[in-house]
Amino acid sequence: MIHPTAPDAPYRLVVSGAASGIGAAVARGALARGWEVLGLDLPHLEGDSGPVPIIGCDVSDEEAVVAAFARVAEHWPAGPDALVHSAGVYAVTPLLETGAAAWDRVLGINARGSFLVAREGARAMAPRSGDRSVVLLSSVGAVRGDDREPSAAYSASKGAVTSLTRQLAAEFGSAGIRTNAVAPGVIDTAMTTLTNDPEASDAFFASRVPLRRAGTAEEVAAACLFLAGPESAYITGVVLPVDGGQAIL
Ligand SMILES: NC(=O)c1ccc[n+]([C@@H]2O[C@H](COP(=O)([O-])OP(=O)(O)OC[C@H]3O[C@@H](n4cnc5c(N)ncnc54)[C@H](O)[C@@H]3O)[C@@H](O)[C@H]2O)c1
Repeated sequence: MIHPTAPDAPYRLVVSGAASGIGAAVARGALARGWEVLGLDLPHLEGDSGPVPIIGCDVSDEEAVVAAFARVAEHWPAGPDALVHSAGVYAVTPLLETGAAAWDRVLGINARGSFLVAREGARAMAPRSGDRSVVLLSSVGAVRGDDREPSAAYSASKGAVTSLTRQLAAEFGSAGIRTNAVAPGVIDTAMTTLTNDPEASDAFFASRVPLRRAGTAEEVAAACLFLAGPESAYITGVVLPVDGGQAIL
């Protein structure tokens, strides 16, 4: 049975990683647009630990992700209109010192987590008609190597997110569900280590980033919200860099 969104219904967004950084900025931006927002984040952050209510869920755990979307359905039986999946982890370790368990942890949260959250998000949206949107978080690391902060597991995980985005756009398109990704460069959030070292940071921005500075969570959130919302209704399969130009140097 098809449940079209009533024309005057509020736009409903699920955002993962909503307790911090880019996810929190997406949640704040969506609230400012008058959207209804539910957050997902780690179980110990369950409750009101961010700008929106958090449903606790480790995104790498299949049962937990399925259970979290069952709770979303209790709030919104007709499903969300959009999903921004921002939960993720960063890890800097030279490849020769990277153990398989550390590799699996990063791939488990970033790649498997994107697969699980996108799958459950799309399942929740599927019964309805109308424009619906999934936005994933890739990274400049998917297309650029990094000799300064070696992070092979992270880069590989974000390469997987980029490929997943294109595949899901192809697979979900006929159901009216768009899938896009945002690929941030260096963004000033709790995840970022470069900005802790002012000297290294100045040298990096002077030589490798055309706009010569870090981005803000709000600047990435603006791109996520554009791709999540109806203004981008004819855009799918895109990976949009928000990196001050880093990927072109
Ligand atoms: N900050 C950057 O420079 C940057 C650059 C490129 C890409 N990104 C990507 O943007 C996204 C958001 O990053 P951020 O900068 O806001 O980081 P952040 O550390 O501020 O926020 C990440 C959020 O994800 C949550 N999280 C981590 N592991 C989780 C798990 N297993 N289950 C559920 N939630 C979990 C954390 O609790 C946190 O709230 C990530 O996917 C990241 O890889 C960030």
